[in-house]
Amino acid sequence: GNDSNRRNPFILPEYACQRATCLKHYNHKFTRALEILQNHAELRDNEHDSSRALAFRRASCVLKSLPFPLTSMSQLKKLTNIGDHCKRVIQEILEDGECSEVTKLQDDWFHKMVVFTSIFGIGSATAKKWIEKGWSTIKEAQEGHISSDWRVKWAFHSDLNTPVKLQEAQYIQQIVRKEAETILPGIILQITGGFRRGKEEGHDIDILMTHPEDGKEVGFLARLLHRLQNKGIILCGNLEKSTYSDDMLTLDSKLSAKGQLDHFEKWLGIIKIPQSCSETPARDDSGSLSNIGSCDHKGINSVAHPTSNTASEQPLNYQPFNLHESFEDLESKAKKQKLGTENELSPMELAKLDRNWIARRVDLIVSPYNQYFYALVGWTGNKQFNRDIRTYAQKELGMKLSSHGLYDLNKNCALPARSEKEVFENLKLQYLEPWERNC
Ligand code: CTP
Ligand code: MN
Ligand code: MN
Ligand code: MN
Repeated sequence: GNDSNRRNPFILPEYACQRATCLKHYNHKFTRALEILQNHAELRDNEHDSSRALAFRRASCVLKSLPFPLTSMSQLKKLTNIGDHCKRVIQEILEDGECSEVTKLQDDWFHKMVVFTSIFGIGSATAKKWIEKGWSTIKEAQEGHISSDWRVKWAFHSDLNTPVKLQEAQYIQQIVRKEAETILPGIILQITGGFRRGKEEGHDIDILMTHPEDGKEVGFLARLLHRLQNKGIILCGNLEKSTYSDDMLTLDSKLSAKGQLDHFEKWLGIIKIPQSCSETPARDDSGSLSNIGSCDHKGINSVAHPTSNTASEQPLNYQPFNLHESFEDLESKAKKQKLGTENELSPMELAKLDRNWIARRVDLIVSPYNQYFYALVGWTGNKQFNRDIRTYAQKELGMKLSSHGLYDLNKNCALPARSEKEVFENLKLQYLEPWERNC
């Protein structure tokens, strides 16, 4: 009827940053297939640089933005970003309900790659080597890696592969906020990443921090980690110093050699959290459980407590992912539990040990306030949204966007922002809520 004529063909803006993309949409049947193709391309090529993978992702992203279920190929006529390959896939699903290419891709090799790359720190290159050795299960990989380093890794493998719940993120936020406010009253603390975009589960917890007074944030993160360490909740982690300088605003938007996306001071680590906190909802300091999807600072600019910065709080030297100390605790506990056992515990046994905590990946990022709202957009993501909005800025406006700021390459000046809305205004974009950035 009229309705389907209006949708035939349909028009959408070219860039994902110009349209809302939500977690729930009308075309999962198609996007699931395209994202399997994307995954497969990432695993087969280089996971950080696969143009095939990006093409599948862009097409999937367009379908997520369609405000109705796709029912005919003619609706696609005016949509950009959907190439011939993707069109064939979509057509086959429209006709047969599934795509034979996608079914065939999900073979033994693919499943092995998915399993191996699910191990923390294992990328597609290592996974491929393991498959060449003839390994096909986690158990075989475990038997092939028995050094003490690896024994530690295996012990936390299942923890880190259990999805993190929103409640756990809120629990961690609460703990971090309490310590952070003691060190630096007036600190602003925001859960970013997937949880801010409305996801109920994630692979880690991302927390971005800043302070409205310029320079107050310097040296803060080491002091915070010291306090968390004293609470005994840090398993391991890596403190990265800020490598930012102002000329980075104008430099090429390509990622650095190490593949890093920004130059903030940050800590990427693993924290222990009580198992019970995923069962009972943790109450946020603000008294609200669900304000993390909003873009304002409700419940974030908490009232400052008197500070007690002691000179004795020296920055610690955090070993990169040194799990050993906690691991030894774990092992000695295990031996007590298995009294009389001479055999070494297997990684599986270690993982199942009686303990009341679970290991969780946490990212803590500190930004100067004058970069904060750009950092907020960057660390909210998602990754595909970032790619798109940065390409849009470059190609359409001649501006360079990063998590540190926005630079007009023609006028040779930076464009500051005092809110996330201003970031979008500076980019001549309509504001998108965090949950509309699930590309
Ligand atoms: N990010 C970034 N710089 C990094 C790492 C991540 O800007 N060095 C961005 C990513 O692009 C993403 C956001 O920060 O938009 C969060 O990253 P990540 O935790 O990897 O992804 P999530 O979207 O939170 O997904 P998940 O739920 O799996 O954690
Ligand atoms: Mn995350
Ligand atoms: Mn991720
Ligand atoms: Mn993260």
